[in-house]
Amino acid sequence: MDTEIVIVPDAEALARSGVQRFVGLAQQAAESRGRFTAALSGGSTPEGLYRLLAEEPYRNQVPWQQVHLFWGDERCVPPDDPGSNYRMAEQTLLRHVPVPPENVHRVQGELAPEQAARAYGRDLEDFFCGPHTRFDLMLLGLGSDGHTASLFPGSVALQEETRLVAAVEAQYEDRPASRITLTLPAINTSRHVLFLVSGSSKAEILHQVLSTPGGPLPAQRVHPRAGELTWLVDEAAAAELDRAAPGTGTGS
Ligand code: 6PG
Repeated sequence: MDTEIVIVPDAEALARSGVQRFVGLAQQAAESRGRFTAALSGGSTPEGLYRLLAEEPYRNQVPWQQVHLFWGDERCVPPDDPGSNYRMAEQTLLRHVPVPPENVHRVQGELAPEQAARAYGRDLEDFFCGPHTRFDLMLLGLGSDGHTASLFPGSVALQEETRLVAAVEAQYEDRPASRITLTLPAINTSRHVLFLVSGSSKAEILHQVLSTPGGPLPAQRVHPRAGELTWLVDEAAAAELDRAAPGTGTGS
């Protein structure tokens, strides 16, 4: 696993750098494997990336017919609920780009949690033709408690070694507690994991996560075995980082 930490000036630069990476990976995957599989993150940080991706010039640089979109996690709410990660992506991205509807693999948050987890797991196994996923791109956020996707500190889901999807309960801010999440086996087989971290409220947790590799926090358990891990962070979130640490650089 190669890890890089890229520090960009602000949230706008974060969105732009993230979009450029998305486009590059999508073109590369479509050309070499005939499809591009991306698991989208929820929360607020990726909204700017999704909006920019839906605009020219980036919109037309993506081979949407060959793109398959999934989610790293979803709240157990209907798809039109304000707390739905699908709804956020639909409003900022999906309705603006020509991705085929059958290529949008929504987590059915309206179902009972265990039923939704089983259904999403079946969808993944059908798509990847077996019990192992291999996402080309895994977009992840970082919670101020060190969670990522909906893998929260102390969760039994962190111990999952075979199932791709788990139903969890977790209180975080004012967000829905009942959630569906990819597990580490589904995340750590990705070709490229891209964390997006923005804002001063993440400075302390980002420093904690990056300064103690191998720690117990969920975000520290993300190690794509045969893939690349990139932390794309803005200056505000990077305020407490050791800029001399290996793999740290300013970029675009
Ligand atoms: C979710 C997200 C979650 C998010 C972090 C950071 O469903 O809430 O998947 O993991 O990425 O909580 O959220 P912000 O980007 O809003 O800080």
